[in-house]
Amino acid sequence: MLKNIAVLISGGGSNLQALIDQMDKIDARIKLVLSNKKEAYGLERAKKAGINQVYLNGKLEDYDQRLLKILKDEQIDLIVLAGYLKILDKQLVKDFEGRIINIHPSLLPSFCGDGQYGIKVHRSAYQRGVKLSGATVHFVDEGTDTGPIILQETVALDFEDRPEDIQKKVLEVEHRILAEAVKLFCQDRLVIENNRVKILKR
Ligand code: GRF
Repeated sequence: MLKNIAVLISGGGSNLQALIDQMDKIDARIKLVLSNKKEAYGLERAKKAGINQVYLNGKLEDYDQRLLKILKDEQIDLIVLAGYLKILDKQLVKDFEGRIINIHPSLLPSFCGDGQYGIKVHRSAYQRGVKLSGATVHFVDEGTDTGPIILQETVALDFEDRPEDIQKKVLEVEHRILAEAVKLFCQDRLVIENNRVKILKR
């Protein structure tokens, strides 16, 4: 059966766009794009692609309950966090266990956890002088960036690369591995065993 995907965003949505552009390779449909920020450009991208877009004010007191209701009403099989800058409610994480994927712009477990998002991650990588960075797609658990890792890909950094340059290099990788991970999930090829992900061969 065709899987229903919800993509949660808070900003520009270039990862969302990458997914939209690669949907022909994935056996699923993006049923809705939801943002907790009204001005998120990703909502515009969804509109242009003819996908149902929802803005849910992140400041609402009953935000978490509303979000959970929408996801259940829409019979969502997979939640993709693509630049979604809000902590997920514990109940939602529990109800969708093994069915929430996040993209993080570093090689986990480096440069992650509270406060490590967006350009801040790349500033940390720059300051530490790492020669390799990259991106990680992982399942979401109750921690921040601690869930089972699905895919990772590295990028080589040059001494001259500023945080913005690192971000650009890493984004290219993000766009590729996020779509790949979603594809694997939709093919039922991801199995979590003792907090590690096994990728089944076809
Ligand atoms: C990406 O770097 C993603 O890894 C991080 O936030 C950024 C969102 O970018 N979680 P975009 O909104 O997909 O362009």
